[in-house]
Parts: sequence; C-alpha cells; structure tokens
Amino acid sequence: MSIKTVAVVGAGIGRSHIIEGYVTNPDRFRVIALCDLDEAKLSTVADEFGITRRTTKFDDLLAMDDLDIIDICTPPMVHYPMIVAALRAGKHVICEKPLVGSLKQIDEIIAVEQQSAGKLMPIFQYRFGNGIQQAKAIIDAGLAGKPFVGTVETLWRREADYYAVPWRGKWKTELGGVLMGHAIHPHDMFVYLMGPLKSLFGRVATRVNDIEVEDCISASVELESGALGSFTASLGSADEISRIRLAFDNVTIESDHAPYNPGAAAWKILPRNEGTKSAIADLLKDWQDVPPRFASQMSRFHDALLSGGPLPVTSADSRRALEMVTAFYYSSRTRQEVVFPIGVDHPNYRSWLPEGFA
Ligand SMILES: NC(=O)c1ccc[n+]([C@@H]2O[C@H](COP(=O)([O-])OP(=O)(O)OC[C@H]3O[C@@H](n4cnc5c(N)ncnc54)[C@H](O)[C@@H]3O)[C@@H](O)[C@H]2O)c1
Repeated sequence: MSIKTVAVVGAGIGRSHIIEGYVTNPDRFRVIALCDLDEAKLSTVADEFGITRRTTKFDDLLAMDDLDIIDICTPPMVHYPMIVAALRAGKHVICEKPLVGSLKQIDEIIAVEQQSAGKLMPIFQYRFGNGIQQAKAIIDAGLAGKPFVGTVETLWRREADYYAVPWRGKWKTELGGVLMGHAIHPHDMFVYLMGPLKSLFGRVATRVNDIEVEDCISASVELESGALGSFTASLGSADEISRIRLAFDNVTIESDHAPYNPGAAAWKILPRNEGTKSAIADLLKDWQDVPPRFASQMSRFHDALLSGGPLPVTSADSRRALEMVTAFYYSSRTRQEVVFPIGVDHPNYRSWLPEGFA
C-alpha cells in the first residue's frame, strides 16, 4: 500500500490525530513533520512520536516536496489562510472544525479546491465507529422507513480553566461558542443520518461562563423529508452526554451517550415490528469492525486518495454545518425562521459575527 506523508500543524488536538489517526494506520501514513508556534509543545510532542522535522513556521511545510498531506489543527481563525496556501501548494489538506469563519469563506475554499490537485477533508470524526455506522447502514438500506422526529442533546461542561486558553470564548478567534466548538459534531451526525434540513428556528444564549460567545442553544428544525427535529446544547451540564434519538416508521434509534465518542459503542436499535427486526439482524450479521473517530476517518481518507472515490467527509458537508451555524445566529438575533439553502444574498453570508466583531 502506498504510504502518504503527513505534517501536523498544531500540537493540541493534533496530538490526538497522531495517536488515533496515524499511529493506528502505519501502513497508510507516516508523520514526517510537526509545526507549532509554541516551541516547548513542539519539542514535547515531536519527541513523543520521534518526529525529526520540527518548525514554528507554517510556510516551511509548503516547500517540502516529499510531503503529501498537511493536517491543520490550529485555532479556528487561521484555518482559512492555511487551507488556501496548502491547496495552492499542491498538498492534500485535512482540517479541524470549524473549517472556516463564514459561508463566503467556505465557498472560496470550495472554488480553490476545484482548481487544485490536492483534496480537502474537514474533520467530523464522530461519524465513525460501529454504533453510528450500523445505524447509517440500517437507514441507507431503507429498513428504518419514513423519518418522523429526532432529538439531539449535546450536554457538556466547560469552565474557567477551559477558557483560560486565550483564543477560546472570543468571537474573533473561536468564531462562535458551543455551536461551533462542540454541538457542531452531534448536529453533523443528525444530518448525516436523517438528511438535509429545510428550515431552522434557533436561539442562542450565554449563561454558563463569562465569555463573548454562546454556551447554550436550542432549535426547532424541519427536514427536507418533512420530519422534525429539536437540538439542545449547553456547556453547563453537571455530567456530560451526547445523545441522538431518531424515530422512524419501522425503528427508533438511540445513540450511545459517551460525550466525545458517541459513535463507537452499540446503539439502541428498537424495531417496531418482527419483519424489521429480522431484516436488521440479516443486514448486520457479517458486520466488519469500524474503528471509532480519527482511526476510520483517516484510513478512509487514504482509501479515497488511492481509489479516487468520494472522501469520507467533504467540504460540502462542512458548508452544511456552517450553514446551520449561520442560520442559528441569524434566527436568534432576528427571531425569524431561516429557510435553507443560504446563498450570497443572505445578510450573514459574509459573516455571522455580531456587529462590532466582524
Ligand atoms: N474534532 C474535535 O473533537 C476537536 C477537539 C478539540 C479541538 N478541536 C479543534 O481543533 C482546533 C485546535 O484546538 P485545540 O483545542 O487543539 O487548541 P490548542 O490551543 O490546545 O492547540 C492549538 C495549537 O496550535 C498552535 N498554533 C496556533 N497558531 C499557530 C500557527 N499560526 N502556526 C502553528 N501553530 C499554531 C498553538 O501553539 C497550539 O499549540 C480548533 O479548531 C478546535 O475547534 C477539535
């Protein structure tokens, strides 16, 4: 198998990409370079994994001819220039969420991607693992039937220590709050399983922490299929859970509640009739293990690069996630429902940041 070389930029969550995504796939990837502005962090993480090429300058990576993939794990406000530069340098790009800071920026990124030799894969690692993939297989096989309603709860906890990192909690650098940094994963899982949204009425509030951005949200959504959904998220929960519950005509599906890995363990699959029960058992009888999170997202990326097939997560998926975020902020400020898609004429197409921060 052809091994792809990787440089990781940002040694916070970037360290988890190395441990979960690259070390677990040694026949697919080799991390040859690490970049971080913080020299101490750079040395510690590079030493841990025996990475010899170390730099504090992102541009050094662009000049490395033997480098295939740049994996961007820096704070949100620098994703856009890094993605554009890496694609223009002919590299494949993996980038953490939130991909960029507006629908305008994502449309520009999609245009650059179309002109580039490299592929761009945004991170949505919660889509991977046996629990969520079995649910997806049941739905895609048509066994679940007509979707009725779904709920998404992202009930996590973040306190002052989390917001001590200077880029967090601020519009200019985090670009948003619980919507962007946390609930973006379960909301992506909901759309991945239930299908695209038609409209959203949302509210956001800052109630838990002394920060600029929101830490509580709630929305009522309508799907293109006609199904309905409700989203709730907060960073003020005493214990932490992620929970998705979807009621279809033939089956009700409930995710595992592990907050940061809800896709891994078996999900509750509750058939409403014997026919569906036996059809699901038949579908899943030869199930092949799907490792959770970055392990599968990265290995599927490698497979797609080799085969030329579809990427496991695309910039179009990321656009949909950012469209939801844009709708949430606009709806909350105007107290109006937002109908999708959101195009260039929308007042928040260029930025969802509040006045004075854009
Ligand atoms: N997918 C997930 O579950 C998940 C989890 C945590 C964070 N994230 C996302 O990952 C990104 C990073 O978050 P984090 O928690 O790791 O942040 P962090 O602050 O812990 O780490 C970011 C690192 O990037 C470095 N950095 C900043 N600017 C840089 C630059 N211009 N060049 C090189 N290095 C630079 C910093 O020195 C720091 O070490 C954010 O977009 C965040 O939303 C995703």
